[in-house]
Amino acid sequence: MRHALLSSLVLAAFVLPSALHAASPGSVSAGGVTLASTHIELPFGTTLYTGAGADVMNANCLGCHSTEMVSTQPNLPEATWKAEIGKMRAAFKAPIADADIPAILAYLMQAKGAK
Ligand code: HEC
Repeated sequence: MRHALLSSLVLAAFVLPSALHAASPGSVSAGGVTLASTHIELPFGTTLYTGAGADVMNANCLGCHSTEMVSTQPNLPEATWKAEIGKMRAAFKAPIADADIPAILAYLMQAKGAK
């Protein structure tokens, strides 16, 4: 019984907010628990990479920092960008798939490649 109550509290805390988030910005009461929405400001920008091939960048490069981390860099040679992607994976554990690397590199060269 105690376990069942605990389980429903955990459910209310984790499942309800995501299920109801889109529906109403107000507070939600369920099972004696009141969940209130909170407004948060993420610490970085919300701009997306744009233009041809941007999807792979948005999928792989926005989890940890904003587009400015790339846009404020100087134009760099391909080998440097390749090493940079490798650094994101090795040093910072970015979950970038091998298969996405050529497209990421192509985007970086077109946007910030040393010509
Ligand atoms: C798992 C988190 C993570 C992901 C995903 C990630 N990065 Fe980073 N990136 C970092 C961290 C941490 C830094 C260092 C930030 C600092 O020094 O303030 C960084 C820094 C950078 C820099 C600045 C130069 C440097 O080496 O410090 C560039 C350029 C960069 N990232 C590009 C990318 C690109 C392109 C992608 C997508 C292919 C990407 N990052 C994905 C974590 C990540």
